[in-house]
Amino acid sequence: MNNNRVVIFDTTLRDGEQSPGASMTKDEKLRIAKALEKMRVDVIEAGFAMASPGDFESVKAVAETIKNSSICSLSRALDGDIDRAGEALKNATVPRIHTFIATSPIHMKYKLRMEPEKVLEQAVHAVKRARKLVDHVEFSCEDAGRSDLDFLCRIIEAAINAGARTINIPDTVGYAIPHQFGETFQQLIERIPNADKAIFSVHCHNDLGLAVANSLAAVAHGARQVECTINGLGERAGNASLEEIVMAIKTRQDVLNVETNIDTKHIVSTSRLVSSITGFPIQPNKAIVGANAFAHESGIHQDGMLKHRETYEIMKAEDVGWKANKMVLGKHSGRTAFKGRLEELGVHFSSEAELNTAFTRFKELADKKHEIFDEDLQALVSDTRTSE
Ligand code: KIV
Ligand code: ZN
Repeated sequence: MNNNRVVIFDTTLRDGEQSPGASMTKDEKLRIAKALEKMRVDVIEAGFAMASPGDFESVKAVAETIKNSSICSLSRALDGDIDRAGEALKNATVPRIHTFIATSPIHMKYKLRMEPEKVLEQAVHAVKRARKLVDHVEFSCEDAGRSDLDFLCRIIEAAINAGARTINIPDTVGYAIPHQFGETFQQLIERIPNADKAIFSVHCHNDLGLAVANSLAAVAHGARQVECTINGLGERAGNASLEEIVMAIKTRQDVLNVETNIDTKHIVSTSRLVSSITGFPIQPNKAIVGANAFAHESGIHQDGMLKHRETYEIMKAEDVGWKANKMVLGKHSGRTAFKGRLEELGVHFSSEAELNTAFTRFKELADKKHEIFDEDLQALVSDTRTSE
């Protein structure tokens, strides 16, 4: 694979579903999986087959339906989990088992109650067992963001020797800071002797609001897979958002020098689908997919936009599936945008004086109303005309 290509691994159906209140039925998962496939997501993590019979059936159904994306199931580093994942993925075109074990001192001591050497041994055993079932095994060091670097190097080297083809470094609790996390990737890739035999992957949570920034720092230091979710859905404050990662990579190719295979035109419709299925609304100022992401209200911005789109826009609304950018008329809007919108509605002012009167009335109305709609404008002009 081209060394500048970043694999997009979507985990909306697994980590996204771990968001309290976001559980999805098999049919809902299938609808989302089809939208992800259409968007050309490389890997779809369809669920955690061992978690419940329903999750097993969902992974199986997604594996049987989706043909153009690789389908993955999560599994702990336990024989039963791995075998169940393999069974659910039996009919997938390109199956992947994603096995994980915690590597941070706090998780090993209190959660696993295991010595590091035992954790390493179990990881190797899990990867080897998964490799007997599928060709592509991904291994994750849970809580890598708080793990000891020397131990990470040892366990990752052993996992690659056991057959892991993707090594995922999760910041499970959203603790990382971009420059420091980037350095972690650089160190791992430099120090692990067989690092070139695997793709390094990043998986960030958003507890400090840094999931996307941390993921991009990892990409800048060699990660070539990003794990993310639509709308940043996920446990607690969520995961890195797919739309932000993909559009940052596309928009700042000059700096990041990498690319994805995503068909960005399907971003907004997929985002809407996930929001309507989960019932999680999208905040209006959410980057890329929020209703205001391409809306301009202030007079200065609208004037600039009318003169040249790039004065206030770094991406095209159409590129992510919006119909067009939106000029919102409100109290900050100027005369040019006001006149322009009315002309689009077929209203032409007969004189400057008529425009001035209508514009004054518009400003008075805008002080009382958050957003002025086309119907408000039409009513306002006809009122102005009858009162003259
Ligand atoms: O956040 C995390 O550590 C995970 C792993 C299971 C990959 O979701
Ligand atoms: Zn996670």
